[in-house]
Amino acid sequence: MGGEAEVDGLQFDPRMSRQVEAMYTTADVVEQRRIVRAALALRSGDRVLDVGVGPGLLAAEMATEIGPSGRICGIDISDSMLAIAATRADVGPGIELEVASVERIPHPAESFDVVVSTQVFEYLDDVGGALDEVRRVLRPAGRVVLLDTDWGSLVWRSSDDARMARVLTAFEDHLADPHLPRTLADVLVKSGFTLTHLQVVPILNTGYDDRTYSAGLMDIVTGFVPGHADITADEARAWADDLRGLGAGYFFSLNRYLFVASAL
Ligand SMILES: C[S@@+](CC[C@H](N)C(=O)[O-])C[C@H]1O[C@@H](n2cnc3c(N)ncnc32)[C@H](O)[C@@H]1O
Repeated sequence: MGGEAEVDGLQFDPRMSRQVEAMYTTADVVEQRRIVRAALALRSGDRVLDVGVGPGLLAAEMATEIGPSGRICGIDISDSMLAIAATRADVGPGIELEVASVERIPHPAESFDVVVSTQVFEYLDDVGGALDEVRRVLRPAGRVVLLDTDWGSLVWRSSDDARMARVLTAFEDHLADPHLPRTLADVLVKSGFTLTHLQVVPILNTGYDDRTYSAGLMDIVTGFVPGHADITADEARAWADDLRGLGAGYFFSLNRYLFVASAL
């Protein structure tokens, strides 16, 4: 992970950014983006802001939907993520990338028809403040689309449940709110949005396969947890070896939650 963030959120270092990019090119996350884009229902000419644009995979897909008359802007606090997004062959010159935090979006009021942010708000201490900023840059009746994980929905088979619980507790240290989705509808309404759509987006991996979301997640967890909640590097490796060793009996299930709300 990156060093201490000076802003609300989490900065990703180059290694972590590359791991996230690899994980987000798996079929599991390609399917997640298909669901997000269906909920976005972008039209030709839409002006879209992607908050926490990360490796730019969603931004690149959205660019093909809005056409040359539209606008895609991406902001992120991690230089290493923006570097990946900027060098993607499929990120056209039409996508504007900028280092910035959701706390202070560098655009005038009512600049966008749609603001999207996937897997970002769970890193924020001040979700209400972020939504105020999102609302400022949205035109009246513009839409915000958010997707976050509730880590309480995680079912991950292990032959050592006590170690699994300790590793997951240590991993939650990287998030501001590992259970954000269960309160997010309330926060959206309190921030003046009208909720128009709520959907669960599950990821299910059965039988161990390197080319899945959860296999990538294991690498990220193994890199992060040593030094957190008294987990050592050896324990983290043993945890991952155990899961991989389950082979055909491997089981992983996790829910994201998708929110669409209108700034009426
Ligand atoms: C897990 S990645 C998700 C990336 C991308 N949204 C996606 O779904 O492919 C989280 C991203 O949020 C960014 N981030 C964290 N806090 C942020 C903030 N306050 N403002 C903008 N971006 C932030 C991180 O730098 C990282 O790129």
